[in-house]
Amino acid sequence: MAVEAVMTETQLVTGGAGFIGSNYVRRVLATTADRIVIVDKLTYAGNLATLRDVMSNPLVEFIEADIVDTEKMSQLFETYAPRVAINFAAESHVDRSIDGPRNFVQSNTVGVFELLEAASRYWSRLSGTQKDRFRFLQVSTDEVYGSLGDEGEFSEDSPYDPRSPYSATKASADHLVRAYNETYQLPTLITNCSNNYGPYQYPEKLIPLATLNGAAGKKIPVYGDGKHVRDWLHVFDHCRAISAVLESGRPGSTYNIGARNERTNLEITELVCDALEELLPAAENPELAAVPSDQSPANGASPSYRDLITFVEDRPGHDYRYAINPTKIERETGWAPRVSFEKGLKETVKWFFDHPRWCDEVKDGAYGGERLGLGLTR
Ligand SMILES: NC(=O)c1ccc[n+]([C@@H]2O[C@H](COP(=O)([O-])OP(=O)(O)OC[C@H]3O[C@@H](n4cnc5c(N)ncnc54)[C@H](O)[C@@H]3O)[C@@H](O)[C@H]2O)c1
Repeated sequence: MAVEAVMTETQLVTGGAGFIGSNYVRRVLATTADRIVIVDKLTYAGNLATLRDVMSNPLVEFIEADIVDTEKMSQLFETYAPRVAINFAAESHVDRSIDGPRNFVQSNTVGVFELLEAASRYWSRLSGTQKDRFRFLQVSTDEVYGSLGDEGEFSEDSPYDPRSPYSATKASADHLVRAYNETYQLPTLITNCSNNYGPYQYPEKLIPLATLNGAAGKKIPVYGDGKHVRDWLHVFDHCRAISAVLESGRPGSTYNIGARNERTNLEITELVCDALEELLPAAENPELAAVPSDQSPANGASPSYRDLITFVEDRPGHDYRYAINPTKIERETGWAPRVSFEKGLKETVKWFFDHPRWCDEVKDGAYGGERLGLGLTR
């Protein structure tokens, strides 16, 4: 009986040492026989500690490089001949984009341009099924659509209206990706996803920061009145959606990804506090004994993580509400979210609670929990 060789394909994953990229790498290794070439500049947000469990896998190749380096990117396309390239690489924190937009323009816009140049040069020289099957997928955000009022949701036809330096650079990148499809027929895909949560998120973002501060008995900052609304999706569901779009998305198309799961920032923070309470009751947490008196409960009541919630000055230009209509991806690819929010959030809080070493390693002096995004360093 003839044994059919299993053809291993290669995925080029830029930004794979970050939060979503590393989760995507794990998913691909768990569900396919593909080789993965991870390219990452290892900025403050990218860390090899995030890839520790996959680095020794013979299907994984790691290359430290900047996507702005077009010669290097071209060389990687030629050397590894990927079937797909997925770009997760970006400066991703809105607050940092307010304090210093330059890196955002470089990585999020110029970097995507250089990557598109390298990809299109490579793709134009392919032929046959190799050419037909190549895809370039740009991982983008719902923030390109701007801010909603109390009603409505973003669809793929919503006009672009970015309002922070971060979302403006991501929007510029999306326009370039669309232009490379229209002009050079590069088979591109764009995914615009809502807020992600899950393991390996850099501890400056809302859920890990609230978890770590709460566990340490520190103030848990909530911007403004806490009523800003975000649409939350577990990172595992986002990664499944990317696989679905790569598999059956139409080249040249955009897909919005979300789980119809709107929550205010205050609600998220309170849920993190409640999840912490289940893991380690505040009354038994020695760190809470040291909570300053202005936050400790009046009349001798038991301490509670919720007492640590502190309203702080709002982010300048803070978008009020995002909400995604995911009908198109559901209809065209059959994708639907699977992780229940209640369970996913509890597991995420537990993950950060259980991984203090990873948190310390990735912060590595680059982030000490300080307030960012007031533009004070400009
Ligand atoms: N986190 C979210 O909620 C969310 C939601 C929607 C879309 N996105 C998008 O998903 C992508 C990944 O986001 P994330 O949360 O994992 O971000 P992250 O900050 O955790 O990871 C980004 C990674 O990109 C790398 N990187 C940055 N600039 C680079 C460059 N010039 N060259 C090579 N590597 C570079 C960093 O080192 C890091 O490993 C981003 O494009 C982001 O805009 C994120």
